[in-house]
Amino acid sequence: MIFSIILAAGEGTRMKSKFPKVMHKICGKPLLSHVINTSRISGIDKNIVIIGKGADLVRNSVEEEVFFVEQPMGEGLPYGTGFAVMQAKDHIKDDSQVIILYGDTPLITKETIRNIIDYHKNGNYEATVLSANFEDPTGYGRILRDDKGNVKAIVEHKDANELERKIKEINSGIYCFNGKGLKVALDKLDNNNAQNEYYITDAIKILNDLGLKVGGYKISDSEEIFGINSRIQLAEAEEIMRKRINNYHMTNGVTIISPNNTYIDADVNIKRDTIIYPGAIIEGKTSIGEDCIIGQNSRILDSHIGKGVEIQISTIIESKIDDNTHIGPYAYLRPNSDIGKNVKIGDFVEVKNSKIDDNSKASHLSYIGDAHIGKGVNIGCGTIFVNYDGKKKHRTVVEDNVFIGCNSNIVSPVEIEEGAYIAAGSTITERVPKGSLSIARAKQVNKEDWVKKKDFKK
Ligand code: UD1
Ligand code: CA
Repeated sequence: MIFSIILAAGEGTRMKSKFPKVMHKICGKPLLSHVINTSRISGIDKNIVIIGKGADLVRNSVEEEVFFVEQPMGEGLPYGTGFAVMQAKDHIKDDSQVIILYGDTPLITKETIRNIIDYHKNGNYEATVLSANFEDPTGYGRILRDDKGNVKAIVEHKDANELERKIKEINSGIYCFNGKGLKVALDKLDNNNAQNEYYITDAIKILNDLGLKVGGYKISDSEEIFGINSRIQLAEAEEIMRKRINNYHMTNGVTIISPNNTYIDADVNIKRDTIIYPGAIIEGKTSIGEDCIIGQNSRILDSHIGKGVEIQISTIIESKIDDNTHIGPYAYLRPNSDIGKNVKIGDFVEVKNSKIDDNSKASHLSYIGDAHIGKGVNIGCGTIFVNYDGKKKHRTVVEDNVFIGCNSNIVSPVEIEEGAYIAAGSTITERVPKGSLSIARAKQVNKEDWVKKKDFKK
């Protein structure tokens, strides 16, 4: 069995945040969730997360199923990566393998996790360290190898001598251990070092001293082990991740006009031949079908978009849009809008908590809130659903094939029955029976020669 221990208890002071570091998001997901997710898709199903700083906040920010273990934190208490791993000791079985990951290193890929496990097993190592060559290795632990290429020890920058500091091969902090060796090493760790911390890196020398072999698996793409300590690094990681996401969608047949200006969250699903224009922000658990056009500067959050839908400069939140529907420009779909097939929601139309059935149109300047609109309904320009009486929200039903004239107020709750017509400018407060015309406005009065009589003429 292989499981992971993900270290996420650290302070993250350089983020200058009231929230724990691993809660901060890139591409719509907490740093920690990216790591957990990558661990899972690489085939590791038991993930143990060591939390400390802001433990409850971290727990609540993660949706994935994991085991949380709390590291005691506070002045005078032991600290360090070694102490963090010790917290998971009860979970470590002698015949298991353990992958150690960091919660603030979200760019690690499933391929690398699989590769280090293979390398570890094939080389019969007791532990394997994931390393990389850095032009500027300052601050990192350095890899000391013997003449056979095995790893003898890792020395922290602060504890290294001048010669060791010249080594460019650095420790990523990611390891694969055999359970048995890890447990033996954990029992021998001490904090006699420059930082008075328990270093997990000391486990490497301990295993060597016991005559056990340690491997070093070096990767060339150092992006993967990029750890986040500041907001600047958060933005850098976001950019790398965003590029990967966009490349993934383009590889699957989605056209992205300007990848550098397109923002797609990690869990978004998009089908082929959809075209995405610059400035689109597609967030959360959104799915988009085939042949859609997502126009410039549209924002779509947690929504489901069918096939052949066109969305222009609009905002869509927690809503559903069925096939061949046209939205915008400048439409605003608020939560729980359920729009049918071949519908038109035009410019400056706001929809909230409403269902609009197939072939209906609200082409301009309307507010539709808390309503069910049937099929083939025409909602004239400037129609307002008056859903709020100052205390409560009310619901209105408009049946199939109704025609609502421009600038009407539909005062909820009310029913407009099948095929009825509403004269323009009406304020509807009562039921409109099937097939009838309702006119609810003052009758027009023309006072002839009124201007002249009043002597208003210029
Ligand atoms: C560590 C490694 C170093 C490596 C570097 C790569 C050690 C001693 N050093 O150094 O060789 O080059 O990572 O980035 O391991 N954490 C806990 N509990 C603790 C302390 C840390 O959970 O008590 C977590 C942190 O939240 C963080 C991770 O462990 O995610 C790494 O800790 P950090 O203090 O940043 O280690 P480095 O000093 O960078
Ligand atoms: Ca670090």
